[in-house]
Amino acid sequence: MKAILVQSEQEGYPLVWGDAPEPVAGPGEVLVDIYATALNRADLMQRAGKYPPPPGASEILGLEMAGVISALGEGVSGWQVGDRVCALLPGGGYAERVSVPAAVLMPVPAGWSFEQAAAMPEVFLTAFVNLFMEAGLQEGETVLVHGGASGVGTAAIQLLREAGNPVFVTAGTDEKTARCLELGAELAINYKTDDFAARIMAHTGGQGVDVILDMVGAAYLERNLRLLKTRGRLVIISTLSGSKAEIDLRYLMGRRLRVIGSVLRARPVEEKTVIKEQFMARFWPALESGQIQPVIDSVFPIEQANEAHQRMAENRNIGKIVLKVRK
Ligand SMILES: NC(=O)c1ccc[n+]([C@@H]2O[C@H](COP(=O)([O-])OP(=O)(O)OC[C@H]3O[C@@H](n4cnc5c(N)ncnc54)[C@H](OP(=O)(O)O)[C@@H]3O)[C@@H](O)[C@H]2O)c1
Repeated sequence: MKAILVQSEQEGYPLVWGDAPEPVAGPGEVLVDIYATALNRADLMQRAGKYPPPPGASEILGLEMAGVISALGEGVSGWQVGDRVCALLPGGGYAERVSVPAAVLMPVPAGWSFEQAAAMPEVFLTAFVNLFMEAGLQEGETVLVHGGASGVGTAAIQLLREAGNPVFVTAGTDEKTARCLELGAELAINYKTDDFAARIMAHTGGQGVDVILDMVGAAYLERNLRLLKTRGRLVIISTLSGSKAEIDLRYLMGRRLRVIGSVLRARPVEEKTVIKEQFMARFWPALESGQIQPVIDSVFPIEQANEAHQRMAENRNIGKIVLKVRK
């Protein structure tokens, strides 16, 4: 089959559409003909050799896909050849075919294209697990989402809007903050031209927020802790500004704060299955009715993966960048 291969010995690690071994559906797995996959920030790091796949996972880039089941492995029930599916992957999405544990499959929601379905699993399951499971978000609690216009941010805003939780976001351009407001953010702050901590405090009458979903890391740690209410939770899912920072432990004790770190990719299939099931139980009707939709920034043919990566590296995307694999 064809897949995107990283030319790791060349400058800039160019991506080429070349030949790769055919995947095989093992017991409990299905083989899927991929129609579309989507970019995640982690792909840029993996490409540069800084985020190796977990043990046993495909070396090929790509943490999600949508396509059609072409074969069933031993012991798979509940799915048929020809079913339209999408799923999280630990790797292998930038390819014509992939094998996936049947337990993590989701159907393509009725009326959705493969491009839409490929843009959904990673960012919606990330937003869901971190807000609703890790942080244990309660009814009416307020949330600050950094990177509001990112793939994860645009998913988080919609889930929070649907759940009725007020959501405040930060983003780096006025175009991005405007899109976040359209998606349902109550307040969207351009952190490059405004002091986000002061704006949140003013907006909340000095109270701060209950939960923060953060991908910025070191540069925001002190402000994030100051912005949390008593019993607030900070969930860290990335360290875009750096990973080392000082923490004043008195903030944590005095206000009984919790700092939670989380990754999705390295979790075992059993955990990913539970996350998928809880997500579907709570939000699937809103996806099927179109209330919640992945925000698609752009669609590139897979042969133009270099250009797609460049767009993400320059922080130009609002929502997801999709790669089309088949017509
Ligand atoms: N732990 C997990 O389970 C998990 C799962 C999925 C994703 N993630 C992480 O979540 C983040 C979002 O993923 P994504 O695929 O949605 O990314 P994305 O669409 O590429 O968005 C990331 C955005 O972060 C902002 N940003 C970049 N560098 C920054 C910096 N130094 N300081 C502040 N903001 C910065 C940029 O927007 P602005 O223009 O607004 O600055 C950028 O567009 C990534 O860091 C990713 O690695 C974690």
